[in-house]
Amino acid sequence: MKKNILFIDACTRKDSRTRRLAEAVLSHIDGVVTHLKLYDESLYPVDENAVVQREQCVSCGSCESDQLKYAKQFAAADEIVIAAPHWDLSFPSLLKVYIENVTVIGVTFAYTEQGELYGLCKAERLIYVATAGGRILDESFGYGYVRALCRRFYGIPVTESLCAQKLDLVGENPEEILQEAIDEAGRRFGDGILYEHDELRNAEAVSSDADGQIHRLN
Ligand SMILES: Cc1cc2nc3c(=O)[nH]c(=O)nc-3n(C[C@H](O)[C@H](O)[C@H](O)COP(=O)(O)O)c2cc1C
Repeated sequence: MKKNILFIDACTRKDSRTRRLAEAVLSHIDGVVTHLKLYDESLYPVDENAVVQREQCVSCGSCESDQLKYAKQFAAADEIVIAAPHWDLSFPSLLKVYIENVTVIGVTFAYTEQGELYGLCKAERLIYVATAGGRILDESFGYGYVRALCRRFYGIPVTESLCAQKLDLVGENPEEILQEAIDEAGRRFGDGILYEHDELRNAEAVSSDADGQIHRLN
């Protein structure tokens, strides 16, 4: 059975370079991609009402409400790729809102009787993809934070990050920097095969003369 890959897209620009880099990563991973474009979703910060409702949904067990849909989808993914541009030393606030919606006790994490936290997520790996206008001076506000959640809450054992930096600096060549990061994606995540994912609406990274599902490099 094919791997179920959740692509969490926190990019707002139509020609987002972060999304382009993430799609390059995805082109090296075999599986069925679910493209979750956060800016197209009805995502709201978790307020008192939402906390009460989701507690009721978790304890009822058979609830069909939408309240837990993001958390259940996140917990069920085999592999997760996040695309998040570097904003204000961190990432867009909508990604934080999404994180609030998926970090649900009884769905993505739980406690033992001794009060120890353990993860309930199936994913073996999460890849965090970012691009930055300048340099990422402290990764703990972005990738580091997501990695901590994976380790302490979700139980996702492997996290990796790929980042293209200095894209907006005067004198730099953003296309060249991005291409270097795309090539790095191939070296780090590739096995010599390019996979085409029809589910991606902007699959620029995959060769345009595609005639089947799988394309060999070289
Ligand atoms: C609201 C906003 C905040 C940003 N904050 C930072 C920042 O703190 N540090 C930085 O190096 N670049 C910052 N940038 C520049 C972006 O990181 C950079 O242009 C990035 O490549 C945008 O990704 P995209 O092409 O996927 O939209 C910011 C851009 C925007 C629009």
